[in-house]
Amino acid sequence: MYDFLNSPFTLRGVILKNRLVFAPTTLGLSANEAMEKLGRIAKGGAALIILGDVAIEPARGSSLFEENGFITYQKLITHIHEFGALAAAQLHMSDSDIKGMMKYMPDIKAGRYSPNQLRALLNDLTADYITSMPIDRIKTIIKQFGEAAKLAQKAGFDIIQIHGDRMCGSMSSSIYNHRIDEYGGSPENRARFACEAIMAVREAVPDMPIDYKLAIRQENPHYGNAGVLESELAVFVPLLEAAGADAFHVALANHSDLSDTIPPLTHPYFKTEGCFLKYCDEVRELSDKPLCGVGRLTHPDMIEKQLSEGRIQLAAMSRQLLADDQWLNKVNAGRENEIHYCMACNKKCLGGMQAHQGTRCIYDKN
Ligand SMILES: Cc1cc2nc3c(=O)[nH]c(=O)nc-3n(C[C@H](O)[C@H](O)[C@H](O)COP(=O)(O)O)c2cc1C
Repeated sequence: MYDFLNSPFTLRGVILKNRLVFAPTTLGLSANEAMEKLGRIAKGGAALIILGDVAIEPARGSSLFEENGFITYQKLITHIHEFGALAAAQLHMSDSDIKGMMKYMPDIKAGRYSPNQLRALLNDLTADYITSMPIDRIKTIIKQFGEAAKLAQKAGFDIIQIHGDRMCGSMSSSIYNHRIDEYGGSPENRARFACEAIMAVREAVPDMPIDYKLAIRQENPHYGNAGVLESELAVFVPLLEAAGADAFHVALANHSDLSDTIPPLTHPYFKTEGCFLKYCDEVRELSDKPLCGVGRLTHPDMIEKQLSEGRIQLAAMSRQLLADDQWLNKVNAGRENEIHYCMACNKKCLGGMQAHQGTRCIYDKN
């Protein structure tokens, strides 16, 4: 019955067994808990699991660059593969000005900022950080995307996703990027960083599929601060494609409120199922590449319709698979009435992450 949802899809020679993707989701769990959760999602039928925020530089304890981090990723990937799912590494470079944050450290340590206030502080520092970044640092970061991709391949990842938000997104955005060199100014120049990151990955791992998380900003009403402005997509998309992107994972850009990119049911604007799919339509006007939709995708009939009409080629879910990792198994067994539907309450997923208690769900038993 769900023929499109269950049909395989090939990306640069890599075969996904169906169209269901676990969207990149920072878990903030212990290695064992993360292994268990991702294993359940893989067992539940997802074809691809994107591991969120895989650092492109050495990062304390958990990066591909340290032996322990590398081995942890290897074990996770092996576990995901055991259930017939594939694994993608979401390569990301932070755009947080950690040095700039230092002056706020005493207040942070004393707990005088809420997570949202902290985010706002970091966002305020972003424009200066991006605009004043020395060129040799930019070149080093771009090289690091390639180094990280090589390590990701060695660890067993099947696909690379480049996080088009964070540093790629801030470099893309006229709100944050006020540079006057070849990385700033015109949309072509602001696309250069992301394109060079893609090219570095392509050169490092020529045969691996590269998915680009295309973070989109809109005006009227204003949502997102980093990322690519809707009206600049016509410049960015062909450049990203020419640089080597094989597919686009299309979502709202970040750096505003996290509850815009992860919208709760009460969100004033993004409150409907498939809330970011309109951006896929805009990208489709400019590219024939496969598009992965994300954002409040929960109901199988609705998703099957989008896939069957070719509006998207892949359907990604974060919170719905946190709410019910057996979603696809239940859909295929005709047990839809047993699905725990995500209520977009954000209480224990986004809320848990922000409270440093790990990404969980109100449906979890413990
Ligand atoms: C707890 C949590 C953590 C997330 N972490 C990431 C991340 O590391 N990278 C990323 O690109 N998106 C991240 N997202 C955004 C999701 O990938 C997705 O775009 C968003 O939640 C909307 O999809 P949904 O309605 O299926 O949850 C996260 C979402 C949640 C709920």
